[in-house]
Amino acid sequence: MTILVFDSGIGGLSVLREARVLMPEHRFVYVADDASFPIGGWEEGALTVRLLDVFDDLVERYQPSMIIVACNTASTIILPHLRKRYTIPIVGTVPAIKPAAERTASGQVSVLATPGTVQRDYTRSLVAEFARDVNVRLVGAENLAVLAEEFMLTGSVDDAAVEAEISDCFTDRLGARTDVVVLACTHYPFLANVFRRLAPWPVDWLNPAEAIGRHAQSLLEHSGEIKDVQDVAEFTKGRPQPNMLRLMSGFGLKVV
Ligand code: DGL
Repeated sequence: MTILVFDSGIGGLSVLREARVLMPEHRFVYVADDASFPIGGWEEGALTVRLLDVFDDLVERYQPSMIIVACNTASTIILPHLRKRYTIPIVGTVPAIKPAAERTASGQVSVLATPGTVQRDYTRSLVAEFARDVNVRLVGAENLAVLAEEFMLTGSVDDAAVEAEISDCFTDRLGARTDVVVLACTHYPFLANVFRRLAPWPVDWLNPAEAIGRHAQSLLEHSGEIKDVQDVAEFTKGRPQPNMLRLMSGFGLKVV
């Protein structure tokens, strides 16, 4: 069975790596819509049209048994459309507000996401439904996905630039400090160690990737067989630069 994993860029690899560990018998196709990256600032209507175009083409070519939308920004607008359009299971990646609300001791939670994700009705309804008794701060980071890609490709990133993007996550209300920060963009787990180093105090950086992998696993049948096909990656802009090819090969993905 083929599982299609989609993101605007290479952040969705944080979800792919968990899903592959849990479902080694399936073939994975990773798609980075780098022609649209970053999508965090796209207007909702234009982004919906773009994403549906991309998915229609991918579904026709790969005939996947499941789609994992490994992108919060896309998931918060596109999931109902995809579920209406295709009959296969569609697994989304949405801000982990419910687990954060369950986990916080101080009652101060921040959600670090793209500007698009923090504006979406979907995100606001998650807060209203699951975090009524918690103070949730939505932090829209303008450049963090781009910085994460830079870090993934080069191994270094400007600390001051990262610090400027995450500093709004930390609040201290009469001694009640933020103790959970939701990583609500799939790019951010790759910067988690940098975040830990730059944070003014230790917090729980909540990465939902494994939970998404487990959810996907629960929706598919498992044969237990070992696959003999190569997992692949596709970029909508065409063949990427050598440093990207190297990164993909490190993930065991052949770029097609
Ligand atoms: N990885 C995407 C997410 O989870 C966002 C990256 C972008 O801005 O394109 O929201």
